[in-house]
Amino acid sequence: MNAVPDVPMERLPALLAAMPKAELHIHIEGSLEPELIFALAQRNGVALPYTDVEELRRAYAFTNLQSFLDIYYAGASVLLQPQDFYDMAWAYLQRAAADHVVRAEIFFDPQTHTARGVAMETVIDGLSRACRDARQLGVDAELILCFLRHLSEEEAFATLEQALPFRDRFIGVGLDSSELGHPPEKFTRVFDACRRHGLHLVAHAGEEGPPAYVWSALDVLKVERIDHGVQSTKDPALMKRLAQDGIPLTVCPLSNLKLCVFPQLEQHNLRELLDAGLVATVNSDDPAYFGGYMNANFLQTFAATGLDAHHAYRLARNSFEGSFAEPAARRRYVERLDAAFAAA
Ligand code: HPA
Ligand code: ZN
Repeated sequence: MNAVPDVPMERLPALLAAMPKAELHIHIEGSLEPELIFALAQRNGVALPYTDVEELRRAYAFTNLQSFLDIYYAGASVLLQPQDFYDMAWAYLQRAAADHVVRAEIFFDPQTHTARGVAMETVIDGLSRACRDARQLGVDAELILCFLRHLSEEEAFATLEQALPFRDRFIGVGLDSSELGHPPEKFTRVFDACRRHGLHLVAHAGEEGPPAYVWSALDVLKVERIDHGVQSTKDPALMKRLAQDGIPLTVCPLSNLKLCVFPQLEQHNLRELLDAGLVATVNSDDPAYFGGYMNANFLQTFAATGLDAHHAYRLARNSFEGSFAEPAARRRYVERLDAAFAAA
């Protein structure tokens, strides 16, 4: 689209909700709603340290990334059978479809499950069946396996070995969990091996960690996208590099708010990233924990920061251009986006 039409501010929320979009940063375990945690706990006979959904929800008062991760890993303890993983992913995919997500690249954390004796096959079987069935919902869904960075390089290698028999069921690898003290270069050799297997490479960097972690994710791990990356604005040379190389940033505004990366949504730096010409995108990260799926992230961020229809178009377009979809599919997504804006 050459010229994005001017859309009156009162029509912007409907456009944000209805425009087709890709979600590139969603941890499937972070989509597990308290109601489903309790239902799965009952189905599997797992005891939870909370008496009900309300008590669990009240525990979702986070002060930083680690305070969230402790509860997030506890919530995942109810997942035991392939059907549990299927049900979790299917619930997310239905929510995504309702938000006009037409492409989802979904992170999963196998080590959270294999450490509890759940087989890699159980995890990947349930998740990949849900992704396949998502075509009925109009969502193209793919999986990205994340290594937990608080664990060792050796454990990451063991996880890769366990996952390789299912190589055709995930498109890439990522790096998540506790960032500070666990720089990307800890996983250099694992990422080298993943590259040799033809996997796409992404990593969380610059969420709480310094710009140096974004540099090393790019230069040492050689990732294609940076997850979060919001700390990059502290380093002008890094901003220039991200813009020049067109490195997508999968920004998660409500996550940043809930984990106190920014004190208020009004202070979020999404506009600064876009104004610097970066390929920034909007994503939900862990929607069950952070109070909103894709459209809530768009609507609340636009309301708080005063972004307009031009930014909306740019963000949705970035999400497709930053995705790992085939070029023909990306072109189709952008055509649908253009049609949505032409009709606005
Ligand atoms: N950061 C790091 N690890 C995570 C996150 C996150 O935002 N969500 C789930 N695991
Ligand atoms: Zn994340």
